[in-house]
Amino acid sequence: MKRFFSLIMMVAAFAVVMSACTNKASDGQNNTTTQKTLVVYYSRSGNTEGIAKQVAQSLGDDIELIEVAEAYPTDYKALEKLAQEETENNVQRPIKPLKHQVKDYDRIIVGTPTWWYKMASPVLTFLSTTDFNGKTVVPFMTNAGWPGTVIKDMAAISGKNGAKVVNAKEFKFNTSNDGSQHGMATPESELTDWINGLRTADNK
Ligand SMILES: Cc1cc2nc3c(=O)[nH]c(=O)nc-3n(C[C@H](O)[C@H](O)[C@H](O)COP(=O)(O)O)c2cc1C
Repeated sequence: MKRFFSLIMMVAAFAVVMSACTNKASDGQNNTTTQKTLVVYYSRSGNTEGIAKQVAQSLGDDIELIEVAEAYPTDYKALEKLAQEETENNVQRPIKPLKHQVKDYDRIIVGTPTWWYKMASPVLTFLSTTDFNGKTVVPFMTNAGWPGTVIKDMAAISGKNGAKVVNAKEFKFNTSNDGSQHGMATPESELTDWINGLRTADNK
C-alpha cells in the first residue's frame, strides 16, 4: 500500500513539472504582440523615414508618410525660417488625408524630426486632428542634439486625444548646420532594443 502511494505521488509530481514546462512554452509564444500597428511619420531629409521603415519592416507593420498639402521650400535657409515661424506659433500645416485609417489599428507609432525644439508642424497637425480613443501611441523623434520638448508635446497631444502613450524614444543624428546628414549617433543597439520592446505583449 505504502509503495502504491509513493508511486501515485511520483506520478503527480511528474504531472506538475510537465504542466509548468508547458505553460512556460506557451508564455513564450504569446509574448509577441497581436496589436495591429500603423507607422506614421514625416521626414524631410530621411532620418525619421529610415527609423520608420526599419521598425515597420521588422514588425511587419503598415507604414505611411505624412504628406503636406503644399510643399516646403527646397532652399534650406527658407525652410529653416518658415519652420521657425510655424513651430513658434504652433501652426498646424495642412496635410493630405492618410491612405490608411487610424481607426483600423490598435497601435500607432508616430515619428517626427525635431524642428526648433518642437515636432515638425505636419506631425502636430496629424496628432491634433486624430481621434486616438482606445489606441496606443508610440512617439519617436530624431534630432541633432537639441531634443527640446518634442516627446513631451507629442505625448500630451496624443493623450489629450484619447491615446495611451508608451515606449517613446529619441534618436540623435549627426547633422551639420547646412542640414546635411552624417548618420545616427544613437547606438544601433538602442534602436534594436526599442524595436524588440515593441514586439512583445508587455507594451499593451
Ligand atoms: C528647420 C529645422 C530645424 C531643426 N531644429 C532642430 C532642433 O531644434 N534641435 C535638433 O536637435 N535638431 C534640429 N534639426 C535637425 C533635425 O531634427 C534632424 O536632422 C532630424 O534628424 C532630421 O530628420 P529628417 O531627416 O527625418 O527630416 C532641425 C532641422 C531643420 C531642417
